[in-house]
Amino acid sequence: MRPKITVVGAGNVGATATQEIARGDYADVVLVDIIEGLPQGKALDLNEAGPVLDYEAKIVGTNGYEETAGSTAIVITSGRPRSPGMSRDDLVTTNEAIVKSVTEQALVHSPDAIVLVVTNPLDAMCHVAKSASQLPRERVFGMAGILDTARFRTFIAWETGTSDRDVQTVVLGGHGDQMVPVVSATTVGGVPLTKLVSADRVEAMVERTRKGGGEVVDLLGTSAWYAPGAAAAQMVASIVLDQKRVLPCTALLEGEYGIDGLYMGVPVVVGSAGVERIIELDLTDAEQAELSSSAEAVREVVAVLSS
Ligand code: NAI
Repeated sequence: MRPKITVVGAGNVGATATQEIARGDYADVVLVDIIEGLPQGKALDLNEAGPVLDYEAKIVGTNGYEETAGSTAIVITSGRPRSPGMSRDDLVTTNEAIVKSVTEQALVHSPDAIVLVVTNPLDAMCHVAKSASQLPRERVFGMAGILDTARFRTFIAWETGTSDRDVQTVVLGGHGDQMVPVVSATTVGGVPLTKLVSADRVEAMVERTRKGGGEVVDLLGTSAWYAPGAAAAQMVASIVLDQKRVLPCTALLEGEYGIDGLYMGVPVVVGSAGVERIIELDLTDAEQAELSSSAEAVREVVAVLSS
């Protein structure tokens, strides 16, 4: 039997993640949403894409959780996205209730699953899922860093006229405007970015990355979904296939980077156990100070949570 993945929320991000998982062809997907017809319709369309895109994965759409039973991972994308002028943190109250209820319901049927959170405000929603599930930190973590890092990689590739495949970097911290693109760990084909691009151009790319989500919201009127959906699917693949990819993910820190008891974006070895290891980079003093400021910003949002 193929592994099964539950994706909650059949909106833009959930449907895109489902399609990317199906294209990997290593797992079936159950897509859950409260809107009647929506997950069923998207599942039908995605099944019908299989013969064209050459995957055999089966997608089931449902408004309940019975069919999700025995899932290896639960991807939570349910909740409101941002509209223009809103920060991710403005979503906190609405999405807290949704993430709590979805986590509890999904785990009833898949008690051994790993929970991946995508809903914003991401860092705070990871705390909600952790507290609702009472699972160890290895099994509850979030997607943001792959997306933020992909944005930074894209801008660097454009600036340097190189392939985005050859840009290595990582974005740490909270999934907000104070995220920390780590310039000291950024290379293009092994060459430090700072040798290729002037300091003011590097700073401009760092700023564009920090505001990358808002740039898409301003253009589309809602938040991004192609890159976020693909990023969530990359985490699912690393879990199901036990790939041990080193991916920037939002994990509960217990002293790493001098931060305790807070979900933050850090490099994680992702395998069948979920968060298998957190990797600590040597940061410059300025980067470490930025990470501390980002942690403070996350703590302020977490403090707004009702539980
Ligand atoms: P969307 O509005 O297209 O889809 C959300 C879906 O959740 C809707 O279909 C809605 O009916 C469903 N939903 C609401 N309450 C539910 C419940 N209790 N149970 C099941 N389904 C429920 O939104 P989109 O664009 O897919 O974004 C989803 C979330 O992901 C938003 O909070 C957004 O801010 C976040 N996001 C996070 C990113 C990240 O990097 N972590 C990147 C992009 C989006």
